[in-house]
Amino acid sequence: MLTTLPLFPPDPLFHLYQAFQKDPNPQKMNLGIGVFVTETGQPYVMPSVQEAVRMCPTDNFNYSPISGNPAFLRGTAELVLGEHIDPESFVVQATCGGTHACALFAALAKRAGYEDILIPNPTWVNHKNIFSAFSQTVFSHLDANGHPDVDAYRRQLLAVTRPTILLLHGGPTHNPTGKNLSLDQIRSLLDVIRSRPVCVFIDFAYLGLGDGVNEDVQSPRLLLRELDEVAVGVSFSKNATLYGHRTGALMVKTTQRERVESNLRQLVRSTISSAPLFGQNVMATLWQSSRDAWLRDVEDMRQRTDRRRQMLIERLPALASLQTTRGLFGMLPLLETDIQRLREMYAIYIPSGGRINFSGIEPSKLDSLVQALSSCL
Ligand code: LMR
Repeated sequence: MLTTLPLFPPDPLFHLYQAFQKDPNPQKMNLGIGVFVTETGQPYVMPSVQEAVRMCPTDNFNYSPISGNPAFLRGTAELVLGEHIDPESFVVQATCGGTHACALFAALAKRAGYEDILIPNPTWVNHKNIFSAFSQTVFSHLDANGHPDVDAYRRQLLAVTRPTILLLHGGPTHNPTGKNLSLDQIRSLLDVIRSRPVCVFIDFAYLGLGDGVNEDVQSPRLLLRELDEVAVGVSFSKNATLYGHRTGALMVKTTQRERVESNLRQLVRSTISSAPLFGQNVMATLWQSSRDAWLRDVEDMRQRTDRRRQMLIERLPALASLQTTRGLFGMLPLLETDIQRLREMYAIYIPSGGRINFSGIEPSKLDSLVQALSSCL
Protein backbone atom coordinates (compact mmCIF):
# COMPACT_ATOMS: atom_id res chain seq x y z
CA MET A 1 0.00 0.00 0.00
CA LEU A 2 2.81 2.36 0.75
CA THR A 3 3.75 2.48 -2.92
CA THR A 4 0.67 4.62 -3.51
CA LEU A 5 1.93 7.37 -1.23
CA PRO A 6 2.76 10.61 -2.97
CA LEU A 7 6.31 11.94 -2.97
CA PHE A 8 6.92 15.45 -1.71
CA PRO A 9 9.83 17.67 -2.63
CA PRO A 10 12.31 18.18 0.23
CA ASP A 11 11.66 21.19 2.46
CA PRO A 12 13.53 24.02 0.75
CA LEU A 13 14.97 25.62 3.92
CA PHE A 14 16.07 22.45 5.70
CA HIS A 15 17.37 20.90 2.48
CA LEU A 16 19.53 23.95 1.81
CA TYR A 17 20.75 23.95 5.42
CA GLN A 18 21.90 20.34 5.11
CA ALA A 19 23.67 21.07 1.83
CA PHE A 20 25.44 24.01 3.51
CA GLN A 21 26.55 21.85 6.42
CA LYS A 22 28.08 19.29 4.05
CA ASP A 23 29.93 21.90 1.97
CA PRO A 24 33.69 21.72 2.79
CA ASN A 25 34.45 25.18 1.31
CA PRO A 26 35.87 27.39 4.14
CA GLN A 27 34.52 30.49 2.36
CA LYS A 28 30.92 29.23 2.53
CA MET A 29 28.23 31.51 3.93
CA ASN A 30 24.73 30.51 4.98
CA LEU A 31 22.13 33.18 4.28
CA GLY A 32 19.31 30.63 4.38
CA ILE A 33 17.42 29.22 7.35
CA GLY A 34 16.12 31.68 9.93
CA VAL A 35 18.59 31.07 12.71
CA PHE A 36 20.68 33.84 14.27
CA VAL A 37 24.41 33.10 14.01
CA THR A 38 27.44 34.92 15.36
CA GLU A 39 29.58 37.25 13.26
CA THR A 40 31.78 34.25 12.45
CA GLY A 41 28.85 32.09 11.39
CA GLN A 42 28.80 30.04 14.60
CA PRO A 43 25.64 28.81 16.40
CA TYR A 44 24.51 31.15 19.15
CA VAL A 45 22.63 30.59 22.40
CA MET A 46 21.79 33.65 24.47
CA PRO A 47 23.86 33.93 27.68
CA SER A 48 20.71 34.51 29.77
CA VAL A 49 19.19 31.34 28.32
CA GLN A 50 22.36 29.35 29.04
CA GLU A 51 22.20 30.58 32.62
CA ALA A 52 18.51 29.65 32.91
CA VAL A 53 19.31 26.18 31.56
CA ARG A 54 21.89 25.78 34.36
CA MET A 55 19.30 26.87 36.92
CA CYS A 56 16.49 24.62 35.67
CA PRO A 57 15.69 21.73 38.02
CA THR A 58 16.78 18.36 36.64
CA ASP A 59 15.22 16.13 39.28
CA ASN A 60 11.74 15.92 37.80
CA PHE A 61 10.98 15.38 34.13
CA ASN A 62 7.44 14.05 34.69
CA TYR A 63 4.62 15.09 32.39
CA SER A 64 3.29 18.61 32.53
CA PRO A 65 -0.45 19.25 32.36
CA ILE A 66 -1.64 18.93 28.73
CA SER A 67 -1.90 22.71 28.53
CA GLY A 68 1.75 23.15 29.58
CA ASN A 69 3.81 24.56 32.47
CA PRO A 70 1.48 27.09 34.18
CA ALA A 71 4.34 29.56 34.85
CA PHE A 72 5.32 29.44 31.16
CA LEU A 73 1.70 30.00 30.08
CA ARG A 74 1.34 32.96 32.47
CA GLY A 75 4.64 34.48 31.35
CA THR A 76 3.73 34.11 27.67
CA ALA A 77 0.35 35.78 28.25
CA GLU A 78 2.03 38.65 30.14
CA LEU A 79 4.61 39.13 27.41
CA VAL A 80 2.10 39.22 24.56
CA LEU A 81 -0.87 40.90 26.24
CA GLY A 82 0.83 43.38 28.60
CA GLU A 83 -1.06 45.02 31.43
CA HIS A 84 -4.10 46.31 29.60
CA ILE A 85 -5.58 43.20 28.05
CA ASP A 86 -7.50 40.84 30.29
CA PRO A 87 -5.86 37.39 30.11
CA GLU A 88 -9.17 35.88 31.26
CA SER A 89 -10.55 36.15 27.74
CA PHE A 90 -7.69 34.02 26.36
CA VAL A 91 -6.95 30.34 26.33
CA VAL A 92 -3.21 29.68 26.27
CA GLN A 93 -1.84 26.32 25.19
CA ALA A 94 1.83 25.32 25.09
CA THR A 95 2.85 24.01 21.69
CA CYS A 96 5.71 22.17 20.05
CA GLY A 97 7.23 25.40 18.70
CA GLY A 98 5.63 28.06 16.53
CA THR A 99 4.92 25.64 13.68
CA HIS A 100 2.71 23.56 15.94
CA ALA A 101 0.98 26.72 17.20
CA CYS A 102 0.00 27.40 13.56
CA ALA A 103 -1.01 23.77 12.97
CA LEU A 104 -3.01 23.57 16.19
CA PHE A 105 -4.85 26.74 15.30
CA ALA A 106 -5.55 25.30 11.83
CA ALA A 107 -7.04 22.15 13.39
CA LEU A 108 -9.16 24.19 15.81
CA ALA A 109 -10.42 26.53 13.10
CA LYS A 110 -11.29 23.61 10.86
CA ARG A 111 -13.34 22.05 13.63
CA ALA A 112 -15.06 25.37 14.22
CA GLY A 113 -16.21 25.41 10.59
CA TYR A 114 -13.69 27.68 8.89
CA GLU A 115 -13.06 26.55 5.32
CA ASP A 116 -11.21 29.50 3.81
CA ILE A 117 -7.98 31.35 4.44
CA LEU A 118 -6.52 34.56 3.03
CA ILE A 119 -2.76 34.20 2.59
CA PRO A 120 -0.73 37.28 1.75
CA ASN A 121 2.07 36.18 -0.56
CA PRO A 122 4.98 35.60 -0.29
CA THR A 123 4.87 34.08 3.14
CA TRP A 124 6.82 31.59 5.22
CA VAL A 125 7.25 28.48 3.03
CA ASN A 126 5.45 26.29 5.56
CA HIS A 127 2.23 28.31 5.88
CA LYS A 128 0.64 26.89 2.76
CA ASN A 129 1.41 23.32 3.90
CA ILE A 130 0.07 23.92 7.37
CA PHE A 131 -3.19 25.37 6.08
CA SER A 132 -3.51 22.87 3.21
CA ALA A 133 -6.96 21.71 4.41
CA PHE A 134 -8.37 25.17 3.69
CA SER A 135 -9.35 26.79 0.45
CA GLN A 136 -6.53 29.32 0.06
CA THR A 137 -6.90 32.76 -1.49
CA VAL A 138 -3.40 33.99 -2.13
CA PHE A 139 -2.82 37.68 -2.78
CA SER A 140 0.14 39.98 -3.01
CA HIS A 141 1.51 41.29 0.30
CA LEU A 142 3.60 43.97 -1.39
CA ASP A 143 2.59 46.57 -3.96
CA ALA A 144 4.48 47.29 -7.19
CA ASN A 145 6.88 49.55 -5.27
CA GLY A 146 7.71 46.85 -2.76
CA HIS A 147 5.68 48.30 0.14
CA PRO A 148 3.08 46.39 2.19
CA ASP A 149 -0.13 46.75 0.20
CA VAL A 150 -2.82 47.53 2.76
CA ASP A 151 -5.34 48.18 -0.04
CA ALA A 152 -4.89 44.62 -1.30
CA TYR A 153 -5.66 43.37 2.22
CA ARG A 154 -8.76 45.59 2.34
CA ARG A 155 -9.97 44.39 -1.05
CA GLN A 156 -9.58 40.75 -0.05
CA LEU A 157 -11.36 41.31 3.24
CA LEU A 158 -14.26 43.11 1.58
CA ALA A 159 -14.79 40.10 -0.68
CA VAL A 160 -15.19 37.70 2.27
CA THR A 161 -18.65 36.15 2.59
CA ARG A 162 -17.94 32.89 4.45
CA PRO A 163 -16.02 32.26 7.69
CA THR A 164 -12.42 32.99 6.73
CA ILE A 165 -9.04 33.12 8.44
CA LEU A 166 -6.74 36.05 7.73
CA LEU A 167 -3.09 35.13 8.18
CA LEU A 168 -0.89 37.95 9.47
CA HIS A 169 2.72 38.08 10.60
CA GLY A 170 3.19 39.60 14.06
CA GLY A 171 5.07 42.86 14.66
CA PRO A 172 7.15 44.74 12.08
CA THR A 173 8.95 41.62 10.83
CA HIS A 174 7.78 39.54 7.91
CA ASN A 175 9.06 36.24 6.61
CA PRO A 176 10.37 36.43 3.89
CA THR A 177 10.05 40.09 2.81
CA GLY A 178 11.15 41.81 6.05
CA LYS A 179 8.41 44.42 5.50
CA ASN A 180 5.14 44.12 7.38
CA LEU A 181 1.97 46.20 7.67
CA SER A 182 2.48 49.14 10.01
CA LEU A 183 0.47 49.74 13.17
CA ASP A 184 -1.56 52.42 11.38
CA GLN A 185 -2.24 50.18 8.41
CA ILE A 186 -3.46 47.45 10.71
CA ARG A 187 -5.61 49.96 12.59
CA SER A 188 -7.15 51.01 9.27
CA LEU A 189 -8.24 47.40 8.62
CA LEU A 190 -10.06 46.89 11.91
CA ASP A 191 -13.48 48.07 10.70
CA VAL A 192 -13.51 45.91 7.62
CA ILE A 193 -12.32 42.90 9.62
CA ARG A 194 -15.14 43.47 12.13
CA SER A 195 -17.68 43.75 9.33
CA ARG A 196 -16.86 40.30 7.95
CA PRO A 197 -16.83 36.73 9.38
CA VAL A 198 -13.04 36.86 9.69
CA CYS A 199 -10.80 35.34 12.33
CA VAL A 200 -7.33 36.84 12.36
CA PHE A 201 -4.44 34.48 13.05
CA ILE A 202 -1.13 36.16 13.88
CA ASP A 203 2.03 34.15 13.42
CA PHE A 204 4.33 35.88 15.91
CA ALA A 205 7.64 34.10 15.43
CA TYR A 206 10.06 37.03 15.74
CA LEU A 207 8.81 38.91 18.80
CA GLY A 208 11.51 41.41 19.80
CA LEU A 209 13.66 41.10 16.70
CA GLY A 210 11.90 43.79 14.67
CA ASP A 211 12.01 47.12 16.52
CA GLY A 212 12.36 45.70 20.05
CA VAL A 213 10.09 43.77 22.43
CA ASN A 214 7.90 46.73 23.49
CA GLU A 215 7.49 47.99 19.95
CA ASP A 216 6.88 44.62 18.32
CA VAL A 217 3.94 43.71 20.56
CA GLN A 218 2.00 46.87 19.66
CA SER A 219 0.21 45.70 16.51
CA PRO A 220 -0.62 42.20 17.83
CA ARG A 221 -1.96 43.84 21.01
CA LEU A 222 -4.12 46.17 18.97
CA LEU A 223 -5.68 43.20 17.18
CA LEU A 224 -5.97 41.16 20.37
CA ARG A 225 -7.69 44.06 22.14
CA GLU A 226 -10.00 45.17 19.36
CA LEU A 227 -11.19 41.93 17.78
CA ASP A 228 -13.37 39.17 19.17
CA GLU A 229 -12.13 36.30 17.01
CA VAL A 230 -8.36 36.38 17.01
CA ALA A 231 -5.52 34.04 17.84
CA VAL A 232 -1.76 34.29 18.01
CA GLY A 233 0.96 31.70 17.63
CA VAL A 234 4.07 32.58 19.63
CA SER A 235 7.50 31.06 19.19
CA PHE A 236 10.58 31.14 21.41
CA SER A 237 12.81 29.64 18.73
CA LYS A 238 14.29 32.93 17.58
CA ASN A 239 13.94 35.33 20.49
CA ALA A 240 15.24 32.81 23.02
CA THR A 241 17.48 30.77 20.67
CA LEU A 242 15.61 27.60 21.69
CA TYR A 243 15.03 26.45 18.08
CA GLY A 244 15.37 22.67 18.47
CA HIS A 245 13.68 22.67 21.88
CA ARG A 246 10.40 23.45 20.12
CA THR A 247 8.95 25.97 22.55
CA GLY A 248 5.87 27.95 21.66
CA ALA A 249 2.27 28.70 22.52
CA LEU A 250 -1.11 29.26 20.95
CA MET A 251 -3.31 31.97 22.45
CA VAL A 252 -6.96 32.15 21.43
CA LYS A 253 -9.27 34.97 22.40
CA THR A 254 -12.74 33.64 23.07
CA THR A 255 -15.95 33.96 25.01
CA GLN A 256 -16.10 30.15 24.82
CA ARG A 257 -13.21 29.36 27.13
CA GLU A 258 -14.34 25.94 28.23
CA ARG A 259 -15.09 24.77 24.71
CA VAL A 260 -11.84 26.09 23.23
CA GLU A 261 -9.80 24.70 26.09
CA SER A 262 -11.37 21.27 25.81
CA ASN A 263 -10.81 21.16 22.05
CA LEU A 264 -7.20 22.27 22.32
CA ARG A 265 -6.50 19.70 25.00
CA GLN A 266 -8.12 16.95 22.97
CA LEU A 267 -6.19 17.95 19.83
CA VAL A 268 -2.90 18.12 21.72
CA ARG A 269 -3.48 14.87 23.61
CA SER A 270 -4.30 12.99 20.44
CA THR A 271 -1.24 14.24 18.55
CA ILE A 272 1.72 15.07 20.79
CA SER A 273 0.10 14.37 24.21
CA SER A 274 1.75 17.47 25.63
CA ALA A 275 4.31 19.97 24.39
CA PRO A 276 8.03 19.51 25.16
CA LEU A 277 8.60 20.78 28.68
CA PHE A 278 12.27 21.70 28.83
CA GLY A 279 12.05 24.93 26.83
CA GLN A 280 8.96 25.97 28.77
CA ASN A 281 10.84 25.45 32.04
CA VAL A 282 13.78 27.46 30.70
CA MET A 283 11.50 30.37 29.77
CA ALA A 284 9.67 30.25 33.10
CA THR A 285 13.00 30.26 34.98
CA LEU A 286 14.34 33.03 32.79
CA TRP A 287 11.33 35.29 33.33
CA GLN A 288 11.37 34.64 37.04
CA SER A 289 15.08 35.13 37.70
CA SER A 290 16.64 37.15 34.89
CA ARG A 291 14.00 38.79 32.74
CA ASP A 292 16.10 41.94 32.25
CA ALA A 293 19.10 39.93 31.10
CA TRP A 294 16.88 38.16 28.55
CA LEU A 295 15.49 41.47 27.29
CA ARG A 296 19.07 42.77 26.91
CA ASP A 297 20.04 39.64 24.98
CA VAL A 298 17.07 40.02 22.61
CA GLU A 299 18.05 43.62 21.98
CA ASP A 300 21.69 42.67 21.45
CA MET A 301 20.70 40.07 18.86
CA ARG A 302 18.41 42.54 17.13
CA GLN A 303 21.16 45.16 16.90
CA ARG A 304 23.77 42.70 15.72
CA THR A 305 21.46 41.61 12.91
CA ASP A 306 20.74 45.21 12.05
CA ARG A 307 24.45 46.09 11.85
CA ARG A 308 25.00 43.33 9.33
CA ARG A 309 21.99 44.52 7.30
CA GLN A 310 23.48 48.04 7.27
CA MET A 311 26.93 46.79 6.24
CA LEU A 312 25.48 45.12 3.19
CA ILE A 313 23.34 48.10 2.17
CA GLU A 314 26.26 50.52 2.57
CA ARG A 315 28.37 48.43 0.25
CA LEU A 316 25.61 47.79 -2.28
CA PRO A 317 23.46 50.87 -2.85
CA ALA A 318 21.39 48.82 -5.32
CA LEU A 319 19.92 47.22 -2.19
CA ALA A 320 18.73 50.50 -0.64
CA SER A 321 15.15 49.20 -0.56
CA LEU A 322 16.24 46.77 2.17
CA GLN A 323 16.62 49.76 4.49
CA THR A 324 13.02 49.43 5.66
CA THR A 325 13.25 45.71 6.37
CA ARG A 326 13.05 44.55 9.98
CA GLY A 327 14.15 41.32 11.63
CA LEU A 328 16.27 38.60 10.13
CA PHE A 329 14.99 38.70 6.57
CA GLY A 330 14.88 40.68 3.37
CA MET A 331 14.63 39.69 -0.26
CA LEU A 332 17.31 40.16 -2.86
CA PRO A 333 16.16 40.75 -6.43
CA LEU A 334 17.90 37.65 -7.77
CA LEU A 335 17.02 35.28 -10.58
CA GLU A 336 16.85 31.59 -9.69
CA THR A 337 19.83 31.05 -12.00
CA ASP A 338 21.81 33.63 -9.98
CA ILE A 339 20.87 31.92 -6.72
CA GLN A 340 22.18 28.67 -8.10
CA ARG A 341 25.35 30.28 -9.45
CA LEU A 342 26.04 31.99 -6.10
CA ARG A 343 25.90 28.62 -4.44
CA GLU A 344 27.96 26.74 -7.02
CA MET A 345 30.65 29.37 -7.61
CA TYR A 346 30.88 31.16 -4.27
CA ALA A 347 29.33 28.72 -1.74
CA ILE A 348 26.81 31.40 -0.80
CA TYR A 349 23.60 29.68 0.25
CA ILE A 350 20.39 31.59 -0.48
CA PRO A 351 16.97 29.88 -0.69
CA SER A 352 14.89 29.97 -3.85
CA GLY A 353 13.01 33.26 -4.03
CA GLY A 354 16.02 35.29 -2.85
CA ARG A 355 15.29 35.65 0.87
CA ILE A 356 18.41 36.29 2.93
CA ASN A 357 19.04 36.05 6.66
CA PHE A 358 21.08 39.16 7.46
CA SER A 359 22.62 37.58 10.55
CA GLY A 360 24.24 35.00 8.26
CA ILE A 361 26.52 37.72 6.84
CA GLU A 362 30.00 37.19 8.23
CA PRO A 363 31.74 40.60 8.24
CA SER A 364 35.13 39.02 7.41
CA LYS A 365 33.57 37.60 4.23
CA LEU A 366 31.66 40.75 3.30
CA ASP A 367 34.03 41.66 0.45
CA SER A 368 33.51 38.38 -1.33
CA LEU A 369 29.75 38.54 -0.72
CA VAL A 370 29.60 42.04 -2.20
CA GLN A 371 31.66 40.97 -5.17
CA ALA A 372 29.51 37.91 -5.80
CA LEU A 373 26.24 39.83 -5.47
CA SER A 374 27.50 42.68 -7.66
CA SER A 375 27.83 40.22 -10.50
CA CYS A 376 24.08 39.50 -10.27
CA LEU A 377 22.42 42.77 -9.28
C1 LMR B 1 12.79 30.07 8.46
O1 LMR B 1 11.84 30.59 7.87
O2 LMR B 1 13.91 29.94 7.97
C2 LMR B 1 12.59 29.58 9.86
O3 LMR B 1 11.35 29.93 10.34
C3 LMR B 1 12.89 28.15 10.03
C4 LMR B 1 11.79 27.25 9.59
O4 LMR B 1 11.29 26.49 10.40
O5 LMR B 1 11.40 27.32 8.42
